Amino acid sequence: MEYQKITKKPLEQHAVKPNLKDYPEAIKEWSWDQVSWELDWFDKDHLNIAHVAIDAHLKTNRRNKKALIWESKKGEGEEYTFLELSRLSNKFANALVNEMGVQKGDRVFFFLERVPEIYIAILGTLKAGGVIGPLFSAFGPDAVKDRVGDSEAKVLITSPSLKKKIVEVIPELPALKHIILVNRGEGKANLDDPYYDELMANASESFDIVKTHKEDHAIMHYTSGTTGKPKGAVHVHEAVVGHYATAKYVLDLHEGDVYWCTADPGWVTGTSYGMFGPWSNGATQVVYEGGFSAKHWYSFLERKKVTVWYTAPTAIRMLMKAGNELPRQHSFDPLRHLCSVGEPLNPEAVVWGKEIFGNAFHDNWWQTETGSIMIANYPIQDIKPGSMGRPFPGIEAGIVDDDFNELSHGNEGNLALKPGWPSMFRTYWKKDDLYQSRFRKGWYITGDRAKRDEEGYYWFVGRTDDVINTAGHLVGPFEVESVLIEHPAVAEAGVIGKPDPIAMEVVKAFVSLKDDYAPSEELRHDIQKFVMKRLSSAAAPREIEFISTLPKTRSGKIMRRLLKAKELGLPLGDTSTMEED
Ligand code: PRX
Repeated sequence: MEYQKITKKPLEQHAVKPNLKDYPEAIKEWSWDQVSWELDWFDKDHLNIAHVAIDAHLKTNRRNKKALIWESKKGEGEEYTFLELSRLSNKFANALVNEMGVQKGDRVFFFLERVPEIYIAILGTLKAGGVIGPLFSAFGPDAVKDRVGDSEAKVLITSPSLKKKIVEVIPELPALKHIILVNRGEGKANLDDPYYDELMANASESFDIVKTHKEDHAIMHYTSGTTGKPKGAVHVHEAVVGHYATAKYVLDLHEGDVYWCTADPGWVTGTSYGMFGPWSNGATQVVYEGGFSAKHWYSFLERKKVTVWYTAPTAIRMLMKAGNELPRQHSFDPLRHLCSVGEPLNPEAVVWGKEIFGNAFHDNWWQTETGSIMIANYPIQDIKPGSMGRPFPGIEAGIVDDDFNELSHGNEGNLALKPGWPSMFRTYWKKDDLYQSRFRKGWYITGDRAKRDEEGYYWFVGRTDDVINTAGHLVGPFEVESVLIEHPAVAEAGVIGKPDPIAMEVVKAFVSLKDDYAPSEELRHDIQKFVMKRLSSAAAPREIEFISTLPKTRSGKIMRRLLKAKELGLPLGDTSTMEED
């Protein structure tokens, strides 16, 4: 079905005037330098993300403005002003420096639920000059070991129950010197590690923030590729310029907004737009600790009077699935701007937003590596449902062929970007060759395929690699295959993404068993549970198909493309060439 363009009102008819008033003009006039001077730098080369996000507001009338309004899974609430977040993060920075000996550049990782302490500790770490690495609390021991081990993190902030989940891999992490436990009513844990509360009680609330250089490392997020273990995309303090500008012009944050980003801090969306972007704009954020629940989400939107909402396609599709009766029991009058990221947003979902909330969802596109939004739909621009929108001012995007020559509109090719924006990653941790390999002929190659139409709107086509996007989580098939073959019954495994109407893709594994084992439902469940426990529920195969042998290249590499073609009933193509790797 063809979806009609959603035409936007002219500027003067917007009740809240969008920050981006004239897109073509902004494209022409854009200067990253100019926007960066809206932020509070220490001098022309030095700034610190935590200072820009929090402390800079203490000099303004936002000092006592609410920065974080938090609601627990049980419904308890806590609120923190910018001043309170500043003091608490100072305390944490003191604890890190004085008690743990953290120095500039040391990695500090977070394996914690979405509780206020994660926000405070992340800000405190940045103030101390540390490099933050947030992890999903749903991770299992292998997923944590791979990331904490690769980064050689010195400190891990976790909770007693989460520590117990990974306790077996801690001896394999020699660089990890300290674990800090955030204990929110879990009772006495009988663990030797220091408690967050005790460290905070003894720490001073004034801290001389480390005057980091704009190129000093600040943030690491691990992301999955086709081969090998996940790699750490490294961002620097200057990234906050990109977070700030895109939160201002794409999320359109204004002084009176109540902003809700549903992303977990373990995902780059949860730091760029769940912390630094909105706070550098001085916005009030609401955070719900729990996961998805249609009933709870609608009630949260209404009770918190959310005005700007940033969420993801799988969640939107799950809301749609829950039916239109439920949202009609609520009022969303204050909600004025809706954004979505992480997977293709189907046109039905864009339009559904308009029906239910009076506003269409504004899709936007970016990656862990790009650090901030690159392509977007803007409040002032018409939406073509199904399109990711147009490049952000200051970002040059293009569609290139496999020789990196630019293609004209209408042609499908590799989505590429001209490097040079502030929040661009600076390397993959200890894998600089891999980082360099992402650049060709002056382009950064994103790994996505797309098209651009005659009006400059971009349309997502797919990925160029085997990485699976399941409900917005990128899952590397290699990671899952590595865990599968550790299961005692599994001889070989090949993993693909299988299309799914809600999650976009789900993980499907093809497994051949060792001689002594026979396929059974019980074994299938056992293998699923095994991956879930070691990696995470997102990575656990939703489907397992037992097959006698897996198709392989002559060098023994499993041919996932063939498995996928079989699964989708597509022509298998010329397999003789594929066998050559
Ligand atoms: O394939 C694209 C898909 O998600 C990838 C980036 O994933 P990750 O690094 O986890 O993202 C972090 C922040 C969004 C992209 O390479 N993707 C992201 N946004 C969209 C998308 N695919 C289609 N449409 C989008 N709007």
